[in-house]
Amino acid sequence: MSLKDQLIIDRLPQHVAIIMDGNGRWAKKRGNSRVFGHKHGVTAVREVTEASAELGIKYLTLYAFSTENWNRPKLEVDALMALLVTTISSETETLMKNNVRLNTIGCKESLPSSVRNKLDTCIAETSVNSGMTLTLALSYSSRWEIVEAIKEITKDVKDSVLNSEDITAETVSNYLSTSSIPDPELMIRTSGEYRISNFLLWQLAYSELYFSDILWPDFRKEDYYAALIDYQGRERRFGKTGEQINVK
Ligand code: IPE
Ligand code: IPE
Ligand code: MG
Repeated sequence: MSLKDQLIIDRLPQHVAIIMDGNGRWAKKRGNSRVFGHKHGVTAVREVTEASAELGIKYLTLYAFSTENWNRPKLEVDALMALLVTTISSETETLMKNNVRLNTIGCKESLPSSVRNKLDTCIAETSVNSGMTLTLALSYSSRWEIVEAIKEITKDVKDSVLNSEDITAETVSNYLSTSSIPDPELMIRTSGEYRISNFLLWQLAYSELYFSDILWPDFRKEDYYAALIDYQGRERRFGKTGEQINVK
């Protein structure tokens, strides 16, 4: 039986988040520049996007560029931004074909206008799609996002739009850039690194974490199915006991 056939379709996560890591090491292993790895990472992006859409997963969030990534050498940052521009253009067709709408989270203002313009065009074009929402985290970090939310909450309290007594965890979720998206049930990180790197700290509170040793440019549909099968074998207890969860 193929890995895909082993999936229990009605127990798939609604939202999968992925830290796409290992492009640089993949390229180095081949004696190439880090940018070569980023270019090959696009194939893996297409694979997981298509696989998610085919399976009927509603939300896929990909960590593409972190706030901290601005600290990389200028040559690499510039190449990544240029790659974003070409990829968004070339992949719009794939998004349309798979009924996927594009969304972004992160500090959009810090991105070059060439990237912002392409994003806006692709977001507008794919907004008619009704299938999966693909969110790219660009110039994103979770602490940045939480600070932004705190600023907004404080402002609304000051303006009497919000009563500080009424603030709940749900209020905080509603002020984050992911307010319209459910929390991920599954977070995947590739390349054998075991850390969160400032990604969706609030939203991952109860996510199942899956770490793969595969470097991102090598990640394929089969590897994704393997992660989903692993997820389906987990018992999500949310603080309860296993016995409570298994009561029929
Ligand atoms: C992930 O791959 C892509 C980005 C962070 C933009 P890396 O570039 O971090 O690759 P490694 O971790 O150095 O191998
Ligand atoms: C995290 O990867 C950011 C993205 C995948 C975009 P990094 O490779 O930048 O993470 P650290 O800094 O090694 O933790
Ligand atoms: Mg890395």
